[in-house]
Amino acid sequence: MDRDIIRLETTDSTNRVALDAAEHGAVHGTAVIAGSQYAGRGRLGKVWISPPGSGLYCSVVVRPQLDAANYPQLSFVAGLAVAAVIDQMYGLDTGLKWPNDIYFATKKCGGILIESRPATAMSAVVGIGLNVNTEAAMFPDEICERATSLFLQSGRKVDIEALFIALREELLTHISWLETAGFAAIMKRWRQRDVFFGKRLEWLSVNGERVVGESLGPDDQGLLHVRSDDGTLHQILSGDVTLVP
Ligand code: BTN
Repeated sequence: MDRDIIRLETTDSTNRVALDAAEHGAVHGTAVIAGSQYAGRGRLGKVWISPPGSGLYCSVVVRPQLDAANYPQLSFVAGLAVAAVIDQMYGLDTGLKWPNDIYFATKKCGGILIESRPATAMSAVVGIGLNVNTEAAMFPDEICERATSLFLQSGRKVDIEALFIALREELLTHISWLETAGFAAIMKRWRQRDVFFGKRLEWLSVNGERVVGESLGPDDQGLLHVRSDDGTLHQILSGDVTLVP
């Protein structure tokens, strides 16, 4: 049994558990995995629905050689690591949606949530949620058109434990790569998987601003460039984007 892995049948949020562990000095790579979560956290204050049996819910404590201001870079790095593992293990062609979603064409398969606390300076938690063995009928009605799982993509049931072990390993490898090669190298690779590049999308900022235009993809700093219909170029730092017809 790996002493750097905390395994829980259920918990509120593996990110919360990992943040607590970081506060108590958990080493780089310490991971938390749960069979289900009853208060799973998504981005922008959303809930991450985390039923037992079908999903991977895990969080990894990382202590990267990175200024805390650059921790958002970790969501791009983690996305690439997740995509690489999925492609390698299941022969798929995994896409990424800015800034932190795992996608297949127009459907979401998973997401990443980076969190840190002032008290855990020099560390962050990378939370990964993936729809793994979810069958179509298991998705709530309101998301079933826009959601997918590794099972639905590959046609076979997946060993969640094996996936988790490979993901943790690959995440740490990718973070070392970030530290040596720099963020621009990460973004160059990230853009090759960008499912929304050239597509028409809508951006809603956290304070309600709305922009509609064509995605030009993220730049080397991770800012998403969108050209709106009047020709204005927008550089988007945060918020959420959705496809528009
Ligand atoms: C998103 O797309 O909004 C990000 C979802 C991240 C969900 C994962 S599940 C494991 C970890 N623990 C949490 O509470 N959230 C992340």
